[in-house]
Amino acid sequence: MHETTCRPTVYVVGAINIDIVIKTSRFPSPGETVVGDRAEHHGGGKGANAAVAAARAGANVVLIGAVGVDANGELALADLNSCNVDTRRVRRCDGASTGLAMIVVDDAGENQITVGVGANAEVAGDTVAQILQGELRPNDCVLVSTEIPGDAVLAAVEHAESVGATCVLNPAPPVDEVLDAFAYKPILTPNAGECRQLAMRIGLSARDIRTAATELCEYTGAPVVVTMGGEGVLLCEPGKSPVHIEPLDVSVVDTTGAGDSFNGVFAARLADGDAIDAAASAANRAAAKSVEVFGARGLLRTS
Ligand code: RIB
Repeated sequence: MHETTCRPTVYVVGAINIDIVIKTSRFPSPGETVVGDRAEHHGGGKGANAAVAAARAGANVVLIGAVGVDANGELALADLNSCNVDTRRVRRCDGASTGLAMIVVDDAGENQITVGVGANAEVAGDTVAQILQGELRPNDCVLVSTEIPGDAVLAAVEHAESVGATCVLNPAPPVDEVLDAFAYKPILTPNAGECRQLAMRIGLSARDIRTAATELCEYTGAPVVVTMGGEGVLLCEPGKSPVHIEPLDVSVVDTTGAGDSFNGVFAARLADGDAIDAAASAANRAAAKSVEVFGARGLLRTS
């Protein structure tokens, strides 16, 4: 468990899952059975993955989320604690199972993911608000992703803005409350598909990713950082020309969690005082590294 220091803290608000990961040569079609060689249990969930990435990047990290009172909940917390993520704000929910993701990874390193949301659905807006109200300081950073209820997402963004803390909103998936959150000017970190979807939903052009991102950024009045997988990152800041951050040359094993690694390292570097372009470049390198290994962040560790 991390110690309280004067250093800025990254508060991650998001989902915690156990991932069951199977490698196969190809994805099954509907109704088809495809046999892979083994199933592995990994730590997962977009919030938890990003929290671990931020902690590995050297940040003080507090995770706000929920797990069940079950064996998977114990495993998830032990794994996060062993990665120096402070889990004291993670709620144990009686009657809900810990979130579970079934992940199939094919030979190209692409994935198909199905999530049973479980206890992640119990992350409540008023709890998030209460925690942040009591703890958040202006030089901290809030990182929130959207596999949890929309009111919890909004509470996180709203409180970050009220304190003057940096807020990174990863709209994965781009739920309705993301549009409501625009009023609080979070830094958005969509992937290309999410960026297009958000632009279209507010009536902006989505004819190409550069236009969608630029217009979205001018609309929200805050930076939009688009993660584009093998095509690098597009950084848009209001009133500036977009900057393309080049991809790195890597051997792709598994793309699962690359966006989470990006977000965790991005938030850690912003909290540490990096300028946004430097933070995005560091995050781009971390995401590239993450696709060279299997699983979102590695096998479960319990000590
Ligand atoms: O982004 C990857 C994550 O999405 C996985 O770890 C899985 O748990 C799902 O939440």
